[in-house]
Amino acid sequence: MSSDSPDLTIRLMDATDLRRGFLAALSVLKPIELTDEEAILVFRDRMQARIQTYVALIDDRIAGTASLFIEPKFIHKGGIVGHIEDVAVHPAFQKHGVGGALVRHILQVSRDAGCYKVILDCDAKVIPFYEKLGFHQWEHALRIDL
Ligand SMILES: CC(C)(COP(=O)(O)OP(=O)(O)OC[C@H]1O[C@@H](n2cnc3c(N)ncnc32)[C@H](O)[C@@H]1OP(=O)(O)O)[C@@H](O)C(=O)NCCC(=O)NCCS
Repeated sequence: MSSDSPDLTIRLMDATDLRRGFLAALSVLKPIELTDEEAILVFRDRMQARIQTYVALIDDRIAGTASLFIEPKFIHKGGIVGHIEDVAVHPAFQKHGVGGALVRHILQVSRDAGCYKVILDCDAKVIPFYEKLGFHQWEHALRIDL
């Protein structure tokens, strides 16, 4: 499945996207301490875990990325939940609609898969970005470092 406008394509990642600047786009979140070869191994593990990595391309360069994990639950009568992870747009492409297009694409994939909700954790400074896409603040995020 892909979303296309004249200059923006959104599709599932493949390994060749490492040559199109995938890690550079993702590194807006955190420095990526992986070689391309190591990143391919991580990509394989993610595919085995059924994590869907989407990329947004402009002129065959990776402008941004976002990931989706679909979780079947015992509660809610076996309902399924979408988890959005790692939404990142390369600084050169920010504020041009790429992040919004990626999240809307993932929401449509989640709707088509039958998810009853989609959730994510984010930094407080990007809450307005997600609210513009229809999200509302809900519960709290916690973590423990192991
Ligand atoms: C946050 C991020 C994904 C947004 O992507 P983007 O392509 O720049 O966003 P868009 O151009 O699609 O913006 C969509 C709307 O959200 C707004 N918006 C974007 N980033 C925003 C921010 N940080 N704070 C408030 N509003 C924001 C835009 O102004 C736009 O509003 P409009 O529709 O009224 O014009 C991108 O800036 C980014 O990668 N930031 C660094 C990493 C990060 O924080 N990721 C989120 C991890 S959860």
